[in-house]
Amino acid sequence: MNKICNFFIFLVLITRTVSESYTPIVLWHGMVDTCCNEISMDMLVRHLKEALPGVHTVSLMIGNNTKEDLRNGFLMHPNEQIEIACSIVNSDPLLADGYNAIGVSQGSQLIRGLLQRCPGPRMKTLITMAGQHQGYYGIPFCDPLTIPRCDFIRKTLSRFAYLSSIQKQSTQATFWHDSLNEETYKHKNTYIAEINNERVINKTYITKLQSLENFVMIKYEKETMVIPKDSSWFEFYAPGQSTKILPLRESDLYISDRLGLKQMDQDGKLHFILAPWVHWEFDWTWYKKNVVDVFLK
Ligand SMILES: *[C@@H]1O[C@H](CO)[C@@H](O)[C@H](O)[C@H]1NC(C)=O
Ligand SMILES: *[C@@H]1O[C@H](CO)[C@@H](O)[C@H](O)[C@H]1NC(C)=O
Repeated sequence: MNKICNFFIFLVLITRTVSESYTPIVLWHGMVDTCCNEISMDMLVRHLKEALPGVHTVSLMIGNNTKEDLRNGFLMHPNEQIEIACSIVNSDPLLADGYNAIGVSQGSQLIRGLLQRCPGPRMKTLITMAGQHQGYYGIPFCDPLTIPRCDFIRKTLSRFAYLSSIQKQSTQATFWHDSLNEETYKHKNTYIAEINNERVINKTYITKLQSLENFVMIKYEKETMVIPKDSSWFEFYAPGQSTKILPLRESDLYISDRLGLKQMDQDGKLHFILAPWVHWEFDWTWYKKNVVDVFLK
C-alpha cells in the first residue's frame, strides 16, 4: 500500500516538475486569422508544446467563438480588445507567476498594448513576428517603391483614415501612420500614437516595457504586406517623407527615450531578428533554432 502511495506521489511530482519547468506562453493572432486556426496559430501552439513539453499556452480569442474572433480583428477597437485580453490573462491561475508572449502581425502591437496597459501577471519575454510597432503607411501588396500608383492610393486613404468614425470602426485604421503628416497622426490616431507615447508620456508604459527581460522583434525579409516592413523593428519613414527609413537609433522616439527603448537597448533587452520569409510564411526549424531555443527555454 505504502509503496503504491509513494509511487503515485512520485508520479505527481514528476508531472508537476515537467509542467512547471517552462514559462507559460500567451499568443495573439494576426488579421484574417483566429486563435485556433489549424494552419497558423494552432500549428504554432502544437510545435511549441512539442518543443517545450507540458508548457501551458493561451491563444487569445477575442470574442465568444472563432467567428467573432475573426470579425473583432477588423472591427473592434484595440482598446476594447486589450481589455478582453487583460481579463482572460488575469483570470487564468496558471499565468499568475508570469508568462512569455508571442504576437503575430497586428497581434504584435496588440499584445504590446496588453503589456503596457494590463495590470496583472508579469510578461517576461515578448516576441513579435512581423509586427507593426510604428503602424503602417500603405496597403498590403502595394509597395509605392515598385508600384508608383500605390503612393497615390495611400495618400487618398490618408484623407479618411483619421476621421473619428473610421478610427472607431476599423481596427486597421488605428495603425495608420501617415509620415507626411506626423502632427495629424500624433493627434488623430487613436491607438499606435497613444501606446508609443506620442502625445503624452505615460510613465507606466515605460515601466511596463522595461520590466521585460527580452523584447524580441522579428522582421520578415521578403515582407510585402507590412509597409514599410521596418515597422516590425520599430522603425519608420523619416518624418515628413515616405520613402527613406530612419533607423530606430536615430529617431526622436529613441533619442529622447520617450518610450524607454533606449534604456532597454543599453540593457541588452532589444533583439532585432530578420526572418527570411514573406508575411504568411513560417518555418518551424528556423523558428525553433533562432527563437524558441534562445528565448523560451
Ligand atoms: C459574447 O456574447 C455576448 C452575448 O451574445 C455579447 O454581448 C458579447 O458582446 C460577446 N463578446 C464579445 C467579446 O464579442
Ligand atoms: C497610463 O496608462 C495607464 C494604463 O493604461 C492608465 O491607467 C493611466 O491612466 C495612463 N496615464 C496617463 C497619464 O495617461
